[in-house]
Amino acid sequence: MQRRTFLGGVAVAGLAAPWLQAWSAVDMASAPVGLPLLASDLLPAGATLRELPKLANASSTPGHFQATLTAAPLTLPFIPGHASTEFWAYNDGLPGPLIELFEGDMVEITFINNLKQPSTIHWHGLPIPPDQDGNPHDPVPPGGRHTYRFNLPQGSAGTYWYHPHPHQYTAEQAFRGLAGPLLVRSREDPLAELPERLLVVSDLKLDRYAAIAPNDANDWMNGREGQFALVNAQHQPVLPFDAGGRERWRVWNACSARYLQLALPGSTLTLVGTDGGLLEAPQPVQREYLLAPAQRIELIVDAGSLRDRIELNANIYPRGKMGDVSPDKAMSLLTVDFTAVRATAVAALPGRLGSVADLGPVTAHKQVVFSEKMNMANGSHRMQFLINDQEYDMGRVDLVSKVNEVELWEIVNRSDMDHPFHLHGTQFQVVERELGGVITPAPFRAWQDTVNLRSNEIVRIKTVQRWSGLRMFHCHILEHEATGMMGQLKVV
Ligand code: C2O
Ligand code: CU
Repeated sequence: MQRRTFLGGVAVAGLAAPWLQAWSAVDMASAPVGLPLLASDLLPAGATLRELPKLANASSTPGHFQATLTAAPLTLPFIPGHASTEFWAYNDGLPGPLIELFEGDMVEITFINNLKQPSTIHWHGLPIPPDQDGNPHDPVPPGGRHTYRFNLPQGSAGTYWYHPHPHQYTAEQAFRGLAGPLLVRSREDPLAELPERLLVVSDLKLDRYAAIAPNDANDWMNGREGQFALVNAQHQPVLPFDAGGRERWRVWNACSARYLQLALPGSTLTLVGTDGGLLEAPQPVQREYLLAPAQRIELIVDAGSLRDRIELNANIYPRGKMGDVSPDKAMSLLTVDFTAVRATAVAALPGRLGSVADLGPVTAHKQVVFSEKMNMANGSHRMQFLINDQEYDMGRVDLVSKVNEVELWEIVNRSDMDHPFHLHGTQFQVVERELGGVITPAPFRAWQDTVNLRSNEIVRIKTVQRWSGLRMFHCHILEHEATGMMGQLKVV
């Protein structure tokens, strides 16, 4: 009976076939591994980092944001001397345009789908009602359009993003270019005076003809990683650091599966914000910061005595990849040019940035278990990634919560690989982590919508949902999400 509620639409029923087809054992097992890719030095590097173009507000009413986002193929001469590359993009831009909003805004964004596949726009991390959140159950068909409407509550200032979430096509649409940054600003931002840099990191895999390569079997198993990690769609650009010696960076990990073990040797990095906004107090970063797929951070970067050019690196992070994969290499994301820095001293950061109030006493509990299983049916060797022993089923409710009830979720990773857990529609608080029987309380409270789990790790979070309806939770390695590592929470 439950089923009817979610399988009601004609469009949804029509999606069943491609979903099965796309990750059938045959398809994945026969996907060739190791086809030659374009040599990574063929993509020019070293241009000055560009600013992200903004999505213009068509409304002149204060507190109202109105705009249109069109998803369509975009053909660019990306590699000199090669055929053009076909991306799929929002408003002909890579990444999608920056959507800059304020707390309290009423937002109205019309999505026009000029792709040949159904799509939706999911507002990753935003506290908005489920029927406006681009669920797979509300697809916009090819040639169709849909207006999303939501209000941004006070306290929602933070660093978000948007990307497609249609049943079964999310991974492909994202790796072809459909993803963009979204900022919610507060009118009282203690760090508003600082020069701000927005750095959207995305992944790109091009075949030797400069076309976007399809997923191979290793991509389906470990998550897709191409030969390029781009920043604002540029290859290893140069960031001219502010003469004042201090910048506020917001960094998005918009990659399908790449973990970013961020390091900027010699600089002083201070964490001031996570996915859902500022921390209560600045936290020094020791050497490296791990930004898992889908996560965002706000950092204060101090040049200190640096006056030269330093690379921002994504260092090696062993995440338990399986199969016959080549060893990971550290990657340079961009070069920070500190040569213009003139300041000899910077002021102390504010000791207090705001409040991250405890969500309060817990009155319900849930458990989510990630696992993996080799499926040998029909002679195939397909790795299955499961949540609570099941693959995703659009017509099944996996968990039920009550509106406004504070819950403790225990997320358990009983698999050999790291997985970033993401829950829609809310910002949660990590309470503690457990690994090898050792419990480590979260060192400070922070708003997050995505949390990484190492192999065999347990993470406990406090979370609450404010609207009734259906929410997704899933691994944000998009190939895992696509092949079934997703569940549904019904909020009543
Ligand atoms: Cu960013 Cu369900 O996703
Ligand atoms: Cu995963």
